[in-house]
Amino acid sequence: MASTTKSADHGLSKFHRLLIDQVRHEFTASHQYIALAAWFDARDLPQLARVFYHQSLEERDHAMMIVRFLVDSDVSVSIPRVDEIQNDFDTPRDLVALALRQEREVTDQFHMLMKVARDENDYTGEQFLQWFLQEQTEEVAKMSTLLAVVDRSAGNLFDVEAFVARDMPDESGDGADAPSTAGPALT
Ligand SMILES: [Fe+2]
Ligand SMILES: [Fe+2]
Repeated sequence: MASTTKSADHGLSKFHRLLIDQVRHEFTASHQYIALAAWFDARDLPQLARVFYHQSLEERDHAMMIVRFLVDSDVSVSIPRVDEIQNDFDTPRDLVALALRQEREVTDQFHMLMKVARDENDYTGEQFLQWFLQEQTEEVAKMSTLLAVVDRSAGNLFDVEAFVARDMPDESGDGADAPSTAGPALT
């Protein structure tokens, strides 16, 4: 029976192929943040653990927003496995530095997605990406601040925990202008 779903990658636009890759990057980020959270949790740093457990859920939502968009765009999406997760670290700083590096990489990925959407005159795709670009600006800023606080604390993690407790509350949901997820989202 003939199928109307596109099963082979070459049936997809470059933009849609990159978006499927982005599902993998967001799920990888989500898993990586669980690894960071569990590391802090095991070392009795509950505030840092909380921030990264929460951030993991946000990354899952990002993946599910892209899944929603692909389903609605009639793109057949196979859910990918995630990339390698780093679990071994020497110092707390290494974990925060990894988080910042990861957010910068994701920002670069969204810039590439935007460029490809423009090249392919995919106006719907361009519009879909706007929220993610804004979100990346906030997430890079958040991790960059946290890294500066860790550096300033000169090894006093109780100062870092106090900062995180005071200035990094869990934000509920992704805001009214956020794209819809496939299935339930963080509320
Ligand atoms: Fe994300
Ligand atoms: Fe992120």
